[in-house]
Amino acid sequence: MNTYLVTGGAGFIGSNFVKYVLKKHPNTHLVILDNLTYAGNLGTIKDDLTNPKVTFIKGNISNPRVVKEIFEKHPIDFVVNFAAESHVDRSIENPQLFLKTNILGTQNLLDTAKKSWTTGKDESGYPIYRKGVKFLQVSTDEVYGSLGETGYFTETTPLDPRSPYSASKAAADMIVTAYAETYKMPVNITRCSNNYGPYHFPEKLIPLIIKNILEKKKLPVYGDGSNVRDWLYVEDHCKAIDSVLLHGRTGEVYNIGGHNEKKNIDIVKIIITTIKRLMEENPGYKSALKENNDSQQDNLEWITDDYLITFVKDRLGHDHRYAIDPTKITNELGWYPETKFEDGIVKTIRWYLENQDWVEKVTSGNYRKYYRQMYGNR
Ligand code: NAD
Ligand code: TYD
Repeated sequence: MNTYLVTGGAGFIGSNFVKYVLKKHPNTHLVILDNLTYAGNLGTIKDDLTNPKVTFIKGNISNPRVVKEIFEKHPIDFVVNFAAESHVDRSIENPQLFLKTNILGTQNLLDTAKKSWTTGKDESGYPIYRKGVKFLQVSTDEVYGSLGETGYFTETTPLDPRSPYSASKAAADMIVTAYAETYKMPVNITRCSNNYGPYHFPEKLIPLIIKNILEKKKLPVYGDGSNVRDWLYVEDHCKAIDSVLLHGRTGEVYNIGGHNEKKNIDIVKIIITTIKRLMEENPGYKSALKENNDSQQDNLEWITDDYLITFVKDRLGHDHRYAIDPTKITNELGWYPETKFEDGIVKTIRWYLENQDWVEKVTSGNYRKYYRQMYGNR
């Protein structure tokens, strides 16, 4: 029975990974370490926390004492490091927090894992590790920078981060690589494209657009909406991470992508059309609309591109296009993105329509202040 340390397990992808692993490998013991920032929510994993195989620890990945205690108490075999400050717009406002969490936090985890897993030294002085252990760093395609209209990121594309967020993730990748080279630590790095799915915090494009439509608010599209992202359903990402952890070649980087490039403006239009269609097919979904007066519920005519979309000031240093070439993980591990975007987006929108209590809970704190600062009173 393997014991995983899953950091950031109360966030979007981390929580989906927790659910995935508990289903796929029911004999696993999971230790979740999360300091519950605005993006982490215990409600997201409340059902998982009742599982006796799950231990939750509220703490900071940058705190040496907290992480050391975890390794002393639990026989950790795998570290899967999701914990991070993850939103580009916030990194533009407050870069330093991103460096502290994403770089120093990763280094603290690496260092503690190295000490705990070392059983001796070889004749050259390199540590020898307990068998079967691995550190997996969950990284992002954003470390490769921005593409023009053509081409793809492969694992050998040079790192060229352009936002404080991506720079902090690239630095974290480099410190992971440094531990692999200098201390022969068993690691993998995965670099994934944009995820979407349940439990996505509504500061990111897809859940923010869904939330705004339900509140009959304008939908802010940065610049002219022509920026391209490569969207992957979150469960497919979790499956890829699980596969790299268990079967990936130690020391390797694996790109994970959806083969699903879309312009932002097209994503927004697809969400508008899909919400309207789902409400027409199933009028029960109209109860997710916020101003629940009768006229709004009866009449969905206002759910149109023209009425809802507003083009706003572009993000500073906005990367134009991301697109992943996932050939390596497909060839080596047989992984491919199973969920077609047309199905994944409907599943995602249905989930939000059916889980408005989750949305309300996670946005009840500082979210309103953040929204006003970012978007004004639209
Ligand atoms: P998220 O913001 O939803 O969740 C991050 C989680 O980390 C939260 O639960 C938060 O409380 C926790 N956390 C933050 N700082 C912490 C700290 N110092 N100590 C302990 N916990 C801390 O992020 P996400 O979208 O789930 O992303 C998870 C990881 O995947 C990140 O490393 C991100 O860079 C990477 N990634 C995300 C995407 C995406 O599309 N969301 C794509 C590729 C890679
Ligand atoms: P986001 O979900 O923040 O992910 P990332 O910046 O990590 O790719 O943004 C996805 C794309 O959507 C990105 O090109 C910025 C754009 N965007 C908007 O146009 N409006 C918004 O309100 C947000 C949050 C993002």
